[in-house]
Amino acid sequence: MDAAGLLHGFRLIALDTVGSTNDEAGRLAGEGASEGTLVRARRQTAGRGRLGRTWISEAGNLYFSMVLRPGCRLGQAGQIGFVAANAVADAVAEALPGTVAVGCKWPNDVLAAGRKVSGMLLESEVDGAGDLQWLILGIGINVENHPENARFPATSLRACGAGCDISADTVLETFCRRFRAGYAEWLRDGFEPVRKAWLARAVGRGKDIRARLASATVEGVFEDVDAGGALVVRGADGTLTTVNAGDVFFPETPPSAGE
Ligand code: BTN
Repeated sequence: MDAAGLLHGFRLIALDTVGSTNDEAGRLAGEGASEGTLVRARRQTAGRGRLGRTWISEAGNLYFSMVLRPGCRLGQAGQIGFVAANAVADAVAEALPGTVAVGCKWPNDVLAAGRKVSGMLLESEVDGAGDLQWLILGIGINVENHPENARFPATSLRACGAGCDISADTVLETFCRRFRAGYAEWLRDGFEPVRKAWLARAVGRGKDIRARLASATVEGVFEDVDAGGALVVRGADGTLTTVNAGDVFFPETPPSAGE
C-alpha cells in the first residue's frame, strides 16, 4: 500500500451543484484520478445514502467524496469506513462544545447528542479478477440543517450549539487533517488501532440493539466489531451473529416514519 498520494495532500474539485459527488468522483476515478482527489459540492440534486436511500442535500451542509486507491484486498476496504468515521467524529467534536456527546454508530454514522449528524457511503470498483481498483468515500455532515423526518433522528452542528465560526469549510479542513493522519496509521499499523479508537466512541456497546437487515432483524446485545468491520450481536441464547450490512436501532430511539 502507498500513502504518498494522500500525504502530499488532496486535490480539491469544488462544485456548486451536482447530482451526487460520489458519482462525480467515481467518474473521475474511472478516468484515472489519483488518490486524494476530493469532489465537494455546495448542494446535491441526487444525493445518495446507504441501502439505496436518498440523502437530502440542501446548501449549508458538507457533501464530499474522495477517491482512494489503498491497494488492499477488497475484504479490507470496509476498514477505511471506520478510519473515516473516526476522523468525522474528531471533526464534529472539535466543532461542538465539550458538553455535547459525540459517538460512532455502526457502521459509519456519527451521532451528536444521540442524533445522526453524519453519514457515509463507501463504494468500490473491482476489476475482472475481483481486485479492488478504487474506493469512493462519500461523506455528508449536517452543518446548518438536517432532515426532520429521517429514519433515525437527525441533527446538525448548528442545532447542537456550534459557534458561528464553524462552517462546512472549517469542518472539511479538520476532517482532512484527521483523515490524513488516520489513513497513514491504518496503512502502517493495520485495523486494530482504528477499531479500538472507533469502539471507544461506539454508541450502544454492551446494550440491547436491533439490527435490521434486508430480509431479517437481529436482536441482542451489541458485543463487538470484528476484524472485518462486521457487527457482532449476542442473542439471548448466547449465539453470536455477524452482521455485514444493515441499520442499527437502539430501543430508546425507535425508527420514525419518513425516508
Ligand atoms: C447514509 O448515511 O445513508 C450515507 C449518506 C452519505 C451521503 C454522502 S453526501 C456526499 C456523498 N454523495 C452522495 O451522493 N452521498 C454521499
